[in-house]
This record gives sequence, structure tokens and C-alpha cells, in this order.
Amino acid sequence: MSEYLLEVNNLKMHFPIHGGILWRRIGKVYAADGVSLTVRAGETLGLVGESGCGKTTVGRSIARLYKPTEGKIIFSGKDMSHISRKELRELRRDLQIIFQDPFESLDSRQTVGDILEEPFIIHRIGTPEIRKVEVKKLLARVGLDENAINRFPHEFSGGQRQRIGIARAIALKPKMIICDEPVSALDVSIQAQILNLIDKLNLARPVLLAGGLGPANIELAIRSTQSYCFDVNSGVEVSPGVKDHEKIEQLMSIVKGIAAA
Ligand SMILES: Nc1ncnc2c1ncn2[C@@H]1O[C@H](COP(=O)(O)OP(=O)(O)O)[C@@H](O)[C@H]1O
Ligand SMILES: [Mg+2]
Repeated sequence: MSEYLLEVNNLKMHFPIHGGILWRRIGKVYAADGVSLTVRAGETLGLVGESGCGKTTVGRSIARLYKPTEGKIIFSGKDMSHISRKELRELRRDLQIIFQDPFESLDSRQTVGDILEEPFIIHRIGTPEIRKVEVKKLLARVGLDENAINRFPHEFSGGQRQRIGIARAIALKPKMIICDEPVSALDVSIQAQILNLIDKLNLARPVLLAGGLGPANIELAIRSTQSYCFDVNSGVEVSPGVKDHEKIEQLMSIVKGIAAA
């Protein structure tokens, strides 16, 4: 068994561009072009880069929401390019994503209770009674009142919705959580609360995908065990293991320099 929980090797994700009256393929977007990274169990990785550099694409490819154009992803000892449907289901359980926009990522027609019970139902865990207890525990862990169960996402503020998203992500105790800019869409006053919650929960080995431009994102990277400043397109790993605010900002300007060159 490898020492790494996640190994990404030369990941490429190219999206086709279609155009013209026949909607033919006329080009490609090189959303990620040769990214390699590793995460050991217990580690948190911060990915920092400018908007549009491919952080979300890398995260979604790792979670197999996209099928990568090229490259190897080994998660928990399994080569993800050759997994069966059943294994993909297991992967969905072990690898969760917290999305950037808590307004889009929650189904507005479901109650919070239904949203949080769903992962247990999909994976056939527990009886309705046991699941109800689990849902209440989850709400308590993310600092929400139990009466949230019968309410709908639109009745909550952005920060509270992100708490619901976090509760859903941790429901099945995944081995890894990918946080894709989990606080970028929130008011500045709320960002720190959510960052603290993420810290406090000691989320199972999150990969933090942070945009490099706002202070909250840089903070997120600094809180990570190791932060990579990344020019995702060229796969240039500018510096792993940075923990210092000023240093990350300096590195960001180098990344931008590389991107512009
Ligand atoms: N589904 C898609 N189809 C086509 N192009 C995409 C798709 N997703 C992302 N892209 C493009 O890939 C690049 C990287 O996007 P993204 O991964 O969202 O960057 P980031 O999360 O770092 O802001 C951008 O140029 C974006 O427009
Ligand atoms: Mg993104």
C-alpha cells in the first residue's frame, strides 16, 4: 500500500470547444494540463491559484465528476481510471466535495432533514430511526439547531447553508473532503466562522482548493498542512509546504508571472 492517500500524476483535462452552424469541435480548453500532486493520510493540501487556473477542474477530476483526458489518479490504493461502477459508488462515499456556492449545491425542494438523510439512504445505512439520530448529530456538529430538519435551504443564510453542505459532506465519514473555495461566496464577516468550523471538525484530510486572490483563501491555504502555490496549467509547483502569509502572496505573484510568460 502506498504511503499516499491520493496520488495524482500528470492529470490533464481538456474540454472541447464547439462552434459554427454544425457545432463542430473547433478547439480545446486546457483546463488542467499536467498536474501532479500527492496527499498523505492526515495531511491537508492547499491549492492556490488565480481564478480560471483550473483548481475546480482538478478537484472535480479527482472526484471523478469529470473523466480526465489523461493522467493517473490513485485514491486509497485504487487506480481510478479502471474502477467499476460499484467501486465508483464507494469512491463517492469516501471522497466528498464541499462546493463553492451553497446556494446552488443544495436541492431547494428538499428539507434539510431529507438532504442530510439522503447519503445514508443511498448507501443503505441504518433504519429511519437511526438515520434521524445521525442527522441530528450532524446538525449539532455544524452548529445548527435540530429544528432545521423540517426547513428548506432557502430559509437559511449563506453561512448556514454552507454549514448544511458541510454536514452533508461529513455524513458518511469520508476519507477525504475536497473543499472548493468553501468560503468565497460568503460575506467576509461569515468567512472566519466557516473556516473555524472546518478546522474544528478536523475534516477528514481535506484538499482545500483555494482561489489565490482574497485574504480568506490565502488564510485557508496557510491553515493547510502543506500549501502548494500552483500554476495549474503548466503544473508548476512553485513551492510546497509554505505556511506564511507574506510568502504565499509573494509566491502568488511568481505564479502569475509564470502564467503570463
Ligand atoms: N465544463 C467545462 N467546459 C469547458 N471549459 C471549462 C469547463 N470547466 C472549466 N472550464 C474552463 O477551464 C478553465 C479552468 O476553470 P476552473 O477549473 O473552473 O478554474 P478555477 O477553479 O481555478 O477558477 C477555465 O478557462 C474555464 O473556463
Ligand atoms: Mg473554481
